[in-house]
Amino acid sequence: MDNFFNDRIMDFRVDGKRYVNLDNAATTSPLKAVEDGVEKYLTTYGSVHRGSGEKSKISTDVYEHSREIIKSFVGAPEESYVIFSGNTTGGMNILAHFFSFLKGKVAVSSIEHSSSWLPWIKAEGEKALGSEQINYTEIDKIAGKIQELGGKQVLTYGLNEDGEFDLAKIEELLKTEKIKVLVLTASSNLTGYCPDIKKVGELVHKYGAFYVVDGCQFIQHHPINMVEMGIDFLVASGHKFYAPYGGGFVVGPKEFLDKFLPYQIGGGNLPYITSEGRFLRYENQLAHDPGTPNAVGAVSMGIALGELKKIGLDKIEEYETGLTRLAYQELEKIDGVKLLVSKKHLSTVIPFVIEGENASDVAEELNAKYAIGVRAGNFCVYHVVRDLLKITPEQERRIVADVESGDTSTMPGVIRASFSICNNREDVERLVEAIKQITSK
Ligand SMILES: Cc1ncc(COP(=O)(O)O)c(C=O)c1O
Repeated sequence: MDNFFNDRIMDFRVDGKRYVNLDNAATTSPLKAVEDGVEKYLTTYGSVHRGSGEKSKISTDVYEHSREIIKSFVGAPEESYVIFSGNTTGGMNILAHFFSFLKGKVAVSSIEHSSSWLPWIKAEGEKALGSEQINYTEIDKIAGKIQELGGKQVLTYGLNEDGEFDLAKIEELLKTEKIKVLVLTASSNLTGYCPDIKKVGELVHKYGAFYVVDGCQFIQHHPINMVEMGIDFLVASGHKFYAPYGGGFVVGPKEFLDKFLPYQIGGGNLPYITSEGRFLRYENQLAHDPGTPNAVGAVSMGIALGELKKIGLDKIEEYETGLTRLAYQELEKIDGVKLLVSKKHLSTVIPFVIEGENASDVAEELNAKYAIGVRAGNFCVYHVVRDLLKITPEQERRIVADVESGDTSTMPGVIRASFSICNNREDVERLVEAIKQITSK
């Protein structure tokens, strides 16, 4: 694979050693094309959708064009909006807000990142609280009450013994509960498992629900097409696909999004306020663009996706999964290493532990001694880590007591090595060699 990054990024050194970035699932460095494109954009940067000057016009055109690039990259239906959201967390909060106005429950998978789960609990809980307003003296109760009410509206569907979603169970849930929207990640952030998005979508639509897909860990590694896969709403973060300038997006149907007042309202996203104070609304994407937008975030996403398309998603997928398979094969041979994903579900992420070693200590050592960056911990999927490590209720009670008393050292965790187009075979060899040395101590 060619080098798509500036040399100063690829040649970053720690104590003289070239830094190996195996934490690509957390975030990614900007592509060279993104850095260059952003620099160029900044030379003509001006107020987006606000000014009549030349810089405003150029800035607005490039900004709007980035929506078209995103729409085309994800194979969205023609009548779709691209709403800029900051990140996936922001996008899920927007959707949870809209859906809270509709009757029915929410179904969320048991492997969702908390960003694709908690916004639904909060929005549903706030809605269930209704018009009840409280005195300031009762403020302590409100967060708990929202969680309790929201929790009743948000149901979870889980994995079977093979670590896959059971379509019959999902169908049962859709049939027996009044599910208005089902949320599913296209790829687990911890194991990389990619569920069959299309098949689940067919079930969701059979029962008249909407389908929200978290594409955060997927779209930079695998080809995606919303129409073919039956996705109603797709959410993703620019920083996961080589555009770390604070951009994220939601793609969804115009027909749906035109019905709602924007999640945030104020300046810039409405055309007129009458003398009686009635605000008129746009029936276009601008309605969901409150305030001065993060134009650089948006534009950088357009450039990054344009570049990924040029490289070719099939080629990227083959390259990255090849590296991941190689690392898996080698790590599998090392005594004391426990890999926490099956070969069948392997994509671009390897979660593992080393017997008798604390995961965070191993990650620290990989950085300090070997200049290898990985992440260790719970990855915002505490339930997945509990399952993988088979944490018993008794162990969990002790962990909770420790954490509540301020001691997080007993928290269980796993190590995650995650691969991208910035890696090569030498990176894999460096990781394998380092793990061999750590386990042979
Ligand atoms: C699958 C998945 N969903 C959502 C998120 C949240 O993304 P962000 O922090 O960009 O909002 C992440 C981040 O790690 C993720 O991996």
